Amino acid sequence: MSTRREFLKSMSAALISAGTPFLFSDCAGALASFRTQVRDGVLTVPKSEIEPPENSTGILIVHASSMPGPIVVRRHADVGIVALLSICTHRGCEVRPMPHSLQCPCHGSEYDVEGNVIEGPAPKPLTRFPVQETADSIIIRV
Ligand code: FES
Repeated sequence: MSTRREFLKSMSAALISAGTPFLFSDCAGALASFRTQVRDGVLTVPKSEIEPPENSTGILIVHASSMPGPIVVRRHADVGIVALLSICTHRGCEVRPMPHSLQCPCHGSEYDVEGNVIEGPAPKPLTRFPVQETADSIIIRV
């Protein structure tokens, strides 16, 4: 029998593959999350947290108490792993990861998967952190 969390994760994955942005945003809370701490300016995340079967969406929300907001970590076929601070550069609302972008619920700004502004009023890109991959970890320099 599936747990509620497993059900919600599989539902998010199904919605992403179906390209259903509206429903996806309603299920954003079901995305996988990982809590850690900044140590020596670095966040370390086990690679399995963003890869199947642990993570069927490929999106991970990383929380660290010393950061100004959650970090959206996602692997893209074209650009590799991208880590973005989820704080909108307009007025600081928390953006939501969508299948092919990130959207701000407050005033409608939209960012591409690398954090560049697609639609304003956001004045500049999301903060992007350098990422390094090791055999089993993702190292995010914050
Ligand atoms: S705070 Fe994001 S668009 Fe205004």
